[in-house]
Amino acid sequence: MRKITVIHGPSLNLLGRRDPEIYGTSTLKQLNGQIKKRAKKLDIAVKFFQSNHEGAIIDAIHAALGSHGIIINPGAYTHTSVAIRDAIDAIAVPVVEVHLSNISSRESFRHRSLIAPVCVGQITGLGCYGYLLALDYLARSRQGK
Ligand code: DQA
Repeated sequence: MRKITVIHGPSLNLLGRRDPEIYGTSTLKQLNGQIKKRAKKLDIAVKFFQSNHEGAIIDAIHAALGSHGIIINPGAYTHTSVAIRDAIDAIAVPVVEVHLSNISSRESFRHRSLIAPVCVGQITGLGCYGYLLALDYLARSRQGK
């Protein structure tokens, strides 16, 4: 069975209450529930992790070594974290970057992702559906980068 890790970064624990006009009204629990449902259909074992701390996110990336893929929404660290970028670059696991909102249509500081160049792809602006598309992709892709 394929193993996929889903990593949610800072403030995504507040989904549902945080800027619902931007991020929607689903809570993190509901989002994870949707991903889990889709994973079951695709015969994928999915693990969830959320942290507001950069180092903890890096540890979770390292812990996913040996899995078939990672889906990550690095939150605001997308735009600042060389350390998360390097952690992704260091492992031979395909990583898909997902954003609920369209980062290209928001403030200019959100336009640049330090993470995207070390990911196999980026899905932005499709809300919860982005995670399901990432899962579909990782269910079909071959192992390794
Ligand atoms: C986000 C976009 C980031 O710019 C922001 O800091 C977030 C959420 C998104 O999912 O749209 O925390 O990653």
